[in-house]
Amino acid sequence: MNQTIKHQMEHRSIREFSGEPVSDAMLKSIFEVANQTATSTGMQSSSIIRVTDPTKKAALAEVCKQPYVMRTTELLIFIVDAYRNAVIAEQNNVFAESRADMDRFFQGWTDATLMAQNVTTAVESLGLGAVFFGSILNDPAAVIKILDLPKLTFPVVGVGFGWPAQEPQLKPRMPLSMKLFENSYQFPVDVEKKLVEYDKVMQTYYDLRDANKRVDSFSLQVVKRLENPIEKRGTILQVVQDQGFNLKVSASRPKEELGKLSPFT
Ligand SMILES: Cc1cc2nc3c(=O)[nH]c(=O)nc-3n(C[C@H](O)[C@H](O)[C@H](O)COP(=O)(O)O)c2cc1C
Repeated sequence: MNQTIKHQMEHRSIREFSGEPVSDAMLKSIFEVANQTATSTGMQSSSIIRVTDPTKKAALAEVCKQPYVMRTTELLIFIVDAYRNAVIAEQNNVFAESRADMDRFFQGWTDATLMAQNVTTAVESLGLGAVFFGSILNDPAAVIKILDLPKLTFPVVGVGFGWPAQEPQLKPRMPLSMKLFENSYQFPVDVEKKLVEYDKVMQTYYDLRDANKRVDSFSLQVVKRLENPIEKRGTILQVVQDQGFNLKVSASRPKEELGKLSPFT
């Protein structure tokens, strides 16, 4: 196993930090890695907001409903940025509709996500710890306001990092055989057995987010999350459109449309 894979296999989210600053040299490398990330069609449709203003950090922590956002040493918010290329086009007197279309949006989304993961990998390789914050999407309109994001931009995910002040266990994943298929999608025939085993493994894991409390079984976590969606996350698509993207969203589908999915009776 080489060093890169070793670090990747040791990945765990870090949510408490010592507060010791990350050196300028490390930050420089991390930002250069972000900038060198692969980018869809070479359009470079993502950007990063480094949040250093404690007031803004506190406001973001409030959106996330996760006080430990405030305690991150470094906080980066990765955004879809189709604004920059729209300005470039305008300077060339081009006002093509596609500057704001669905494809542009998802290219920016993928670019921002890859950048965030690349940064996380770099951070972890330096012995620092990191955590993603998808919870910024609890209220995307508020995040847009806090960060003064212009039209044709959209917040995707945050990454908080710094020197770790905790040593969480590795969080177990479901067996790879439930996720890795060859040539076509193959729902595992022994899924129920595999899930029972995985549920047991998960229940032995302590999540340090919640005062060293053991987590629910994976199945129960899935059910709880699906039954309790976060209200404002239902506005995400609306806010994407308010930001000037034209996703040509079709009317919402009736609940029953997908029908029963399970191959088991
Ligand atoms: C897109 C994304 C969003 C996430 N958002 C949050 C978040 O808002 N808050 C948080 O504490 N962890 C967040 N996480 C971290 C996950 O909870 C974590 O990766 C998962 O539970 C697996 O644990 P591990 O990273 O320690 O292996 C997020 C992870 C991803 C990939």
